[in-house]
Amino acid sequence: MIKEYIAENRQRFLDELFDLLRIPSISADGAFKDDVVKAAEFIREKLLAAGADKVEVVPTAGHPIVYGEKIIDSSLPTVLVYGHYDVQPAVPLELWDSPPFEPVIRKTEIHPDGAIFARGSCDDKGQVYMHVKAFEYMMKTNKLACNVKFMIEGEEEVGSPNLATFCIENKEKLKADVVLISDTSMIANDIPSIDSGLRGLSYVEVEVTGPNRDLHSGVYGGAVANPINILAKMIASMHDENNHITIPGFYDAVQVLSDAERAELNKAPFDLEAYKKDLNIDDVWGEKGFNTLERTGIRPTLDCNGIWGGYTGEGSKTVLPSKAFAKISMRLVPNQDSHTITDLFKKHFESIAPQGVKVEVRPHHGGEPVVTPIDSPAYLAAEKAMETSFGKKPIPTRGGGSIPIVALFEKELGLKSVLFGFGLDSDALHSPNEHYGVFNYLKGIETIPYFFENFAKMHK
Ligand code: BES
Ligand code: MN
Ligand code: MN
Repeated sequence: MIKEYIAENRQRFLDELFDLLRIPSISADGAFKDDVVKAAEFIREKLLAAGADKVEVVPTAGHPIVYGEKIIDSSLPTVLVYGHYDVQPAVPLELWDSPPFEPVIRKTEIHPDGAIFARGSCDDKGQVYMHVKAFEYMMKTNKLACNVKFMIEGEEEVGSPNLATFCIENKEKLKADVVLISDTSMIANDIPSIDSGLRGLSYVEVEVTGPNRDLHSGVYGGAVANPINILAKMIASMHDENNHITIPGFYDAVQVLSDAERAELNKAPFDLEAYKKDLNIDDVWGEKGFNTLERTGIRPTLDCNGIWGGYTGEGSKTVLPSKAFAKISMRLVPNQDSHTITDLFKKHFESIAPQGVKVEVRPHHGGEPVVTPIDSPAYLAAEKAMETSFGKKPIPTRGGGSIPIVALFEKELGLKSVLFGFGLDSDALHSPNEHYGVFNYLKGIETIPYFFENFAKMHK
């Protein structure tokens, strides 16, 4: 039934998603504030048209949250669908093969049926819209088997600064039995998987100041500490020769997996050659004693995300800069705490600063790691749904990304999440040429109604 519905409505499903993708809802950049609201309005309209009640665009101190629900029977379980309609900035624009907000379908090696190229196609508009269309189908055919609440936010890509308040202030309204989130990846289109964890995040910005002004690099060079040289050395020193992070206490809380748990994690198929080929690298890099799956799944990291200072314009300017800056992210695993890690970073960074410079560490947003159960009724409902639509039982995996609000759902709403993602890691999320397989989009729409059906049965 759902298959026929998709076949009949395929073009419309694509057209509507394309309309959503044309709205540049970049949450990080104030210049796009009105577009963010437009995207919220778009989701509101489509939820309403599909049959949701109490649909509203709720203003916050930042970007709005779209809420809607369909309560059919208080004796049935309730699914809270969470996702985000905001997107990452599209820069650098010149690296896109087609404009980021003019979606087009192109075939790729991994997506022979075509992929939708646009910012937000996979992360997360395409995956949010699967839920809207699956809901439309369930409403039209009287198949909705659970109550459903939608909470689609516009600030995920900037750390969800206002969603926590909304959750805390609306605990009754958000009452549910599980949170269903499609904002993660699977292993491959023929290897379905479900993430059973997300990493946490500590994000800091650092500033190193040397002399009180930019100096002539000939007149002063060699005699005054150069903040860029110093910063580069400080960052480099934060990994040792085994690529362990050198911040004292950094690993103290890290949960060590048993050999059995590690073996389980490594059952997930991983093609190292394909991985290297996709990234055009001749070797992978990382912490000694762990393989690539473990490095992204169960180990914490420290990475410089941006570094600047001095002269970067055309030609040369002989200048010894007064300041240097960097943005640094640390991905965290259970049971690390983002506040503790940020404090440890700050203390360490200040302690390794040599004489002749001043340093400042400014914490940004953070988030806690989560592990989701793989034996709950909701997980089993998701597993069975994918087994039905893919013809293969999905493998539980640990994803490397973060969705900071998921830990808060647990803490404030007492709700566990199911990470029901249909993207691929190779879909270039946050990168130029982000895309989402047409297969993945339609497969998601096909699979979601099975989840609702299974969950209604299993949640007794
Ligand atoms: N959807 C991603 C997270 C993700 C991607 C998880 C792929 C697992 C697999 C989310 O939109 C994201 O990008 N999160 C940010 C969090 C940050 C902006 C606070 C991240 O992970 O960098
Ligand atoms: Mn996302
Ligand atoms: Mn993202």
